[in-house]
Amino acid sequence: MAQGRKDELLDHDADGIQEYDNSLPRWWLYGFYFTIIFSVVYMVHYHVSGTGKLMTAEYEEEMQAAESIKKIAAANAPKKELPTSPLTDAASLKKGQEIFESTNSLCATCHRTDLGGQVGPNLTDEYWIHGCDLPTIMKNITTGFPEKGMLPYGSTNKLTDEELVQVASYILSKQGSNPPDPKPIEPERDVKCGANAGTEQNTVATTDTAVKQH
Ligand code: HEC
Repeated sequence: MAQGRKDELLDHDADGIQEYDNSLPRWWLYGFYFTIIFSVVYMVHYHVSGTGKLMTAEYEEEMQAAESIKKIAAANAPKKELPTSPLTDAASLKKGQEIFESTNSLCATCHRTDLGGQVGPNLTDEYWIHGCDLPTIMKNITTGFPEKGMLPYGSTNKLTDEELVQVASYILSKQGSNPPDPKPIEPERDVKCGANAGTEQNTVATTDTAVKQH
């Protein structure tokens, strides 16, 4: 390493191991200088001038940010109570159909324009995986089934409360429409509408749907 002079053996040894009087490699020295400078800057930044945030301060700040996110979510929650039975007027159902087939919502790409089912299940029969009353269907549209590929179409995302009611009502208006070649039911998961009271996934059927059964 040392240039311009011969390596000199130092005259001490440890257990027979001797060493040359070489200067330290440049990369090592610069690394060493860097750590010294870094430590000074670090100390001034965090402990002398107080311009850096210590762990507790950062923690407090993140907790506050989380609080404000919670507040925003609460402010965006549906303001008014949503209806519990489906709309039946032609104008609302037409709106619902437009939403179902729109390129924004894409419901029809997975459930077909006749709702017979493709990627998503058939929505016209009395068998449902997640429940069949209006509030449950609206909740399912809001949360979606991301693990199955259906995005959440919630009130804070893409669909307004009004559109949510319209599209869910449209789906229910197609009950029993019997489209050709529907997607087969999943016997282990599908539950007949009205027979699902009390299970955790499916909320209690409304009187409306229970009456339909008999
Ligand atoms: C990318 C495909 C996809 C899109 C787009 C999609 N869905 Fe779905 N949907 C699914 C799948 C898959 C399921 C079944 C989830 C499961 O197996 O648990 C489902 C389930 C449902 C269910 C529950 C059915 C049941 O049997 O309980 C409803 C209601 C529903 N979708 C409505 C909609 C509406 C309304 C839209 C548009 C706003 C929509 N879906 C868009 C794939 C999709």
